[in-house]
Amino acid sequence: MTPIEPSLRSSGTSMFNVEQIRSDFPILKLKIDDKQLVYLDNAASSQMPTVVMDRMLRYQTMEHANINRAVHYLSETATAEYEKSRHKLKNFINANEDREVIFTSGTTDAINLVAHGYGRKFISSGDEIILTVLEHHSNIVPWQMLAEENGVKIRVVPINDAGELLIDEYKKLFNKNTKLVGVTHVSNAIGTINPIKEMIEFAHTHGVPVLVDGAQAAPHMKIDVQELDCDFYTFSAHKLCGPTGIGILYGKANQLNRMNPFKGGGDMITSVTFEKTIYNTIPHKFEAGTPPIAAAIGFGAAIDYLSSIDLSTIEAYEQSLINYATEQINNIPGIRIIGSAAEKVAVLSFSVDGVHPHDIGTLLNQEGIAVRTGHHCAQPVMQRFKVPATTRASFSFYNSMAEIDALIAGIQKVQKVFL
Ligand code: ALA
Repeated sequence: MTPIEPSLRSSGTSMFNVEQIRSDFPILKLKIDDKQLVYLDNAASSQMPTVVMDRMLRYQTMEHANINRAVHYLSETATAEYEKSRHKLKNFINANEDREVIFTSGTTDAINLVAHGYGRKFISSGDEIILTVLEHHSNIVPWQMLAEENGVKIRVVPINDAGELLIDEYKKLFNKNTKLVGVTHVSNAIGTINPIKEMIEFAHTHGVPVLVDGAQAAPHMKIDVQELDCDFYTFSAHKLCGPTGIGILYGKANQLNRMNPFKGGGDMITSVTFEKTIYNTIPHKFEAGTPPIAAAIGFGAAIDYLSSIDLSTIEAYEQSLINYATEQINNIPGIRIIGSAAEKVAVLSFSVDGVHPHDIGTLLNQEGIAVRTGHHCAQPVMQRFKVPATTRASFSFYNSMAEIDALIAGIQKVQKVFL
């Protein structure tokens, strides 16, 4: 990684040196059939800076052994480094204690953990769960599986035409049977930032816990779980410049303590006989088996990297990207932006009159531009806007204004070919 002066990283967008940041990411230099890569699929997965890859390589080269299992040097080193990552994550989200951070394989795994460990224990026939139209399938299907099994009812918060949750409707959904709220902090499909603090406060006045899917929020803004007062919060490393296969579930210690484990196996027990197993304390109760140790340590390095830039700087710069992209795309006739919430992250979902999103994605790819096309694993959002799919450009702090110009030129080329 090229060393970057702290002043360039944290003194606001006017000083934000995107070219210097880009040099941390070797993949951004890639050419696709002689066309410079323009990577605008960051909501699906972000790219990884050299410093994170180097950290994982050092771990594999010099520090690897299994964790929590032996007294030899390497096992103790690996355990200490794994726990250091947990501590970095705890600080990153301002959790109260390290043990409130559970390593999972990602956001989907974390939500399934809560559906299993909390849902199957505390939510039963006749009870209700509140979700929103904006959920990713990973915050719908685990609850539907629980609903099918236990006779639980799912109630859904609607949105307006801008893609914003109707908070009055949300409040009306509560009754004595409501047992949990599951809400995405940010919509992956259209970028809306939901008013989760208000939603959590309201749910708590009814004694209802709240799980927040933070997969699309944590890469873009400072998260403070104590300030939010959420019961559960989850996100994945691979959207935060880290590796795939690792993420976290934050849970308040009192909630995690009363839950059942999700997976059984080594490390999640204190004793096992054929008559009875005593489970380990948190966080280990939820981390059965050998975890992806290198990935967890890489996640810690990614958190160090992002913290060195500062999330408020990232947020401000990305807002300037989405403002510019929205302004530019609004100048092109025949484009419909799907999702125009007053509060949104740098995600631009759109359709082009008369052109199928897959054709747009294919032609943009020929220009070296990577966007996602399809339903974005959020089919209820597509149904609400009566579109089968959209084209989604999702930006990161390493994207430049020039890349937005390339996207706009690419869309105009698509229109020339098809219209
Ligand atoms: N959930 C990821 C996305 O929105 C994969 O693309």
